[in-house]
Amino acid sequence: MNALFKVHGISKNYGGVRALNDIDLTVGRGEIRGMIGPNGAGKSTFIDVVSGRTSGDGAVFLDGVDLSGKSIQERRLSGMSRSFQRTSIFPEMKIGKQLGLATYAFGDSNLMEVTESLGLANVLDRKASEVGYGEQRRLDLALTLIGKPKILLLDEPAAGLSHEDSMVLADHVMKIAKHMNVPVIIVEHDMDIIFRICDSVTVLETGKKLAEGTPDEVRQNPAVKSAYLGSMA
Ligand SMILES: Nc1ncnc2c1ncn2[C@@H]1O[C@H](COP(=O)(O)OP(=O)(O)O)[C@@H](O)[C@H]1O
Ligand SMILES: [Mg+2]
Repeated sequence: MNALFKVHGISKNYGGVRALNDIDLTVGRGEIRGMIGPNGAGKSTFIDVVSGRTSGDGAVFLDGVDLSGKSIQERRLSGMSRSFQRTSIFPEMKIGKQLGLATYAFGDSNLMEVTESLGLANVLDRKASEVGYGEQRRLDLALTLIGKPKILLLDEPAAGLSHEDSMVLADHVMKIAKHMNVPVIIVEHDMDIIFRICDSVTVLETGKKLAEGTPDEVRQNPAVKSAYLGSMA
């Protein structure tokens, strides 16, 4: 398989806590990979280590390039872009200015395409604090897309959104993966989003991979049911 993104042996200790234990993962072009697991399973730590925000062990390859040991900025410039569990926008800065600064930092302007496709074209003159939360989270997503990244790592992009806004965001993520052909790893606790848009799902539990497969395979997996989905299935 022509895997665009490949990580191997991703591990992380926080003091005596083994937050991640030897995770391998492969994502293909245009694929949406969901990552789920109970609180504390290691999902954010995985995104942090892989994106270079936090130190950790393991190898990271993107489009054939070895990014292991590179800084978060070097990884971003090489095409690995991430969002944060908490929104990273500047509330008092105009949306257009924030996107302009990202364009300045990451070059290769695809600003028009990004603002149009995420429905932000008519709020560029507004401060982030003046628009709705759904638009703020779409701004987060837009910022990750500036500079035509090769992969997006999204940590709970729909956190705090209404069901309706979550579904709008989910459809934007789908558009990014399928039309812009940018694969996405999405950490999400909202199962409606996971099962609506993901091609495949990885389940973490206490830092280990518990299961992996299509959404249906994962949903039917007895270990997953008892560990995580049981109460929600
Ligand atoms: N900065 C940190 N310092 C110490 N322990 C941490 C830190 N960040 C996360 N952990 C621990 O690592 C484990 C995984 O956390 P996290 O990756 O945030 O889980 P998730 O995102 O799946 O809820 C938890 O046991 C958590 O307490
Ligand atoms: Mg988390």
